Amino acid sequence: MVIIVKDCAIIDVERENPMPKPLFITFEGPEGSGKTSVIQNIYKVLQDSGQDVIVTREPGGVKISEEIRNILLNNQHLGMDQKTEALLFAASRRQHVIEVIKPALDANQTVLCDRYIDSSLAYQGHARGIGIEEVYQLNLFAIESLMPDLTLFIDVSPEVGLARVKNNQREMDRLDNESLTFHEKVYEGYLKLAEIEPDRIKIINGNQPIENVVQDALKHILA
Ligand code: TMP
Repeated sequence: MVIIVKDCAIIDVERENPMPKPLFITFEGPEGSGKTSVIQNIYKVLQDSGQDVIVTREPGGVKISEEIRNILLNNQHLGMDQKTEALLFAASRRQHVIEVIKPALDANQTVLCDRYIDSSLAYQGHARGIGIEEVYQLNLFAIESLMPDLTLFIDVSPEVGLARVKNNQREMDRLDNESLTFHEKVYEGYLKLAEIEPDRIKIINGNQPIENVVQDALKHILA
């Protein structure tokens, strides 16, 4: 199957398709990075090429985790302790891994997940100041070493991302409403993670038209 993306770039998904085993692929980025639309596009391309693939998200993906999401993002919960926040994200992740991610991988399905452990490392570990290593250890208890095969970081600056969120007129949640300084630290945290794990975490320019972002993401997936 040949996928033609804008600017006449051509990707032959079947010819280049070296996906012998199901992949666990996560997508990360600041608020407004556009990763949700990118995931939907990639899902369609992979599905059309015959891959057995699912899309899911964090925090959420299953009922219990979606309920934890509502607690986490509720604007009324301004008094939430930062370690409580880290624990709730990890608890939500645990349920999601057990109910969705692990069973899908066991059934040979490729999993595209909107956010995963790197969000906790960047937001709670780095930006909140708990420590990347501390939050990683906490999450190991939840995920039992189930790390992604590939993580695509959609790179847009916090200013651009937050402006997009406001223009899209979606309701700003408790995390969106954090200060610009906090969001800058999140961004800094992601770049630090990409530096620590360059083989797993790939940076994609999120300031391009979506077609190009999707094309860059597909190149990494097929590689
Ligand atoms: P979303 O807006 O991409 O759905 O993500 C919800 C918010 O939760 C977003 O601001 C990022 C934040 N978040 C964390 O702080 N830690 C985490 O572990 C996850 C998964 C998300």
